[in-house]
Amino acid sequence: MNPILEFARMHGLFVIEDAAQAHGAEYKGRKAGTLGDAGCFSFYPGKNLGALGEAGAVVTNDAELWKKIQMLRDHGQARKYYHTLAGWNCRMDGIQAAVLSIKLRHLEEANLLRREHAWQYNQAFAGIDDVATPFEANYARHVYHVYAIRVQERDEVRRRLEENEIGCAVHYPIPIHLQEACRNLGYTAGAFPVAENLAEEFLSLPMFPELTEEQIEHVARCVSETAGVGALV
Ligand SMILES: Cc1ncc(COP(=O)(O)O)c(C=O)c1O
Repeated sequence: MNPILEFARMHGLFVIEDAAQAHGAEYKGRKAGTLGDAGCFSFYPGKNLGALGEAGAVVTNDAELWKKIQMLRDHGQARKYYHTLAGWNCRMDGIQAAVLSIKLRHLEEANLLRREHAWQYNQAFAGIDDVATPFEANYARHVYHVYAIRVQERDEVRRRLEENEIGCAVHYPIPIHLQEACRNLGYTAGAFPVAENLAEEFLSLPMFPELTEEQIEHVARCVSETAGVGALV
């Protein structure tokens, strides 16, 4: 983030952090979402801090921006029926806020459990060359919204997990430049080979605070027994 912030300062740009998967994550001792001019959090139910329905928040230390965001989320109203801007209805439902304010108290504990689970997965895959595990830089704190490995035989591993009724997912299968919605930009397959390659190798393993050691062992065994096999054939 420091080089990004530096670049933005040099060129008079705003930095808006997408911290949707980063509740409690840190960069050089500072919380994700507080590094730029504004930070955006998603409280979609599956997130580290999840509501019971759709919810999200923007945080900022900039008073002017704060006022503008407040207006934008409420049909651009500066006060009732006085529309200063063209905004949207992005008000958070009070029931979601009530749930979130209780769940917030448990976020740190839940993040610590996720970190323990990640450590256990990392240990289980330590000797397996075909499985690349997430990397946590020494200046950062990862909160493992997902625990994504990279494995060349991704589709075989995925099939094996599914056969064992183990939930897994690909985050994300189609890079942005190949999305239908971005077709007008004119990119075709091969334009961003690194992103395309990653989209074929990523696999997110089960990751949530309530996972047990036995469950992680079972998942890791299924992955380890399948990874590398395709490469040998
Ligand atoms: C990185 C990232 N950004 C943005 C979003 C969008 O969040 P929401 O669906 O709450 O608007 C998500 C949700 O999955 C996300 O993971």
